[in-house]
Amino acid sequence: MTLTAPARASARLIDGKAFAASLRARTARKIKSLLARTGTKPGLAVVLVGEDPASQVYVRNKAKQTLEAGMDSFEHRLPDTTGQAELLALVEILNRDDKVHGILVQLPLPKQIDADAVLRAIDPAKDVDGFHVVNVGKLATGAKDAMVPCTPLGCLMLLKETLGSLAGARALVLGRSNIVGRPMAALLIGESCTVTVAHSKTRDLPEECRRADILIAAVGKPRMVQGDWIKPGASVIDVGINRVTEHGKQRLVGDVDFDAAARVAGWITPVPGGVGPMTIACLLANTLTAACRRAGIDSDSL
Ligand code: GUN
Repeated sequence: MTLTAPARASARLIDGKAFAASLRARTARKIKSLLARTGTKPGLAVVLVGEDPASQVYVRNKAKQTLEAGMDSFEHRLPDTTGQAELLALVEILNRDDKVHGILVQLPLPKQIDADAVLRAIDPAKDVDGFHVVNVGKLATGAKDAMVPCTPLGCLMLLKETLGSLAGARALVLGRSNIVGRPMAALLIGESCTVTVAHSKTRDLPEECRRADILIAAVGKPRMVQGDWIKPGASVIDVGINRVTEHGKQRLVGDVDFDAAARVAGWITPVPGGVGPMTIACLLANTLTAACRRAGIDSDSL
């Protein structure tokens, strides 16, 4: 398999919506089988502090898909005046609750709360977001039992599904956040890619991008990546979900100028319908993994 596709008039789409649906179906089948074999029904607890509208949409979608997959969903909504001690006390209760296999505290948290302290209080075995320093360290050192953050895990699955082996590819990760950029770079190193992490201080970003067989854009800047930044035939994964108003209408656009990039790339994810649907599908898969580990079952055997 070559890592850049042959020249075409336009890129092929990486259909995240379809792949997420098949991952959810696979997870739901395994949940049934885990329940039948061990009596364990995986449970996911989601904690939302405050009224951030985007977070409310995510949390509602998470709860709906959790139930559809056959898991228990526990939702905890707290006012935005919640103090750190109160939130830590809830995390402690969830850590001890045997019905809860996965805990997710939705970010961002209100200013009065130290998010790092909260993430570190979550039992690493229930940390389905993969944000606890223990899981971050496991991923960075290539340990097999790391909980991997859902968005970069979804991106990696799409790339492997599309390209097969990624070994030897030059990968450029645009963005260095703890949620996407850094874990994405660690995952690509694990796949034997040659990885560059670019950010706001990177010199000659277009030139760095043009060297990449795989370009992951995760900066939250609408259509920042231009068509002529892309190597012909490259695979482009657009993590951006930016709300813009155009001609009086709201729409979602990625971090990549899709129309221009699609004329140059070999493969590209659309926005919406690319990376977005993979995130919750991976969250469900991580919760199943956590429940299997607790039950002492290899999830591949289900
Ligand atoms: N806010 C935006 N993305 C995420 C995510 O993947 N996990 C959590 N906990 N909060 C988020």
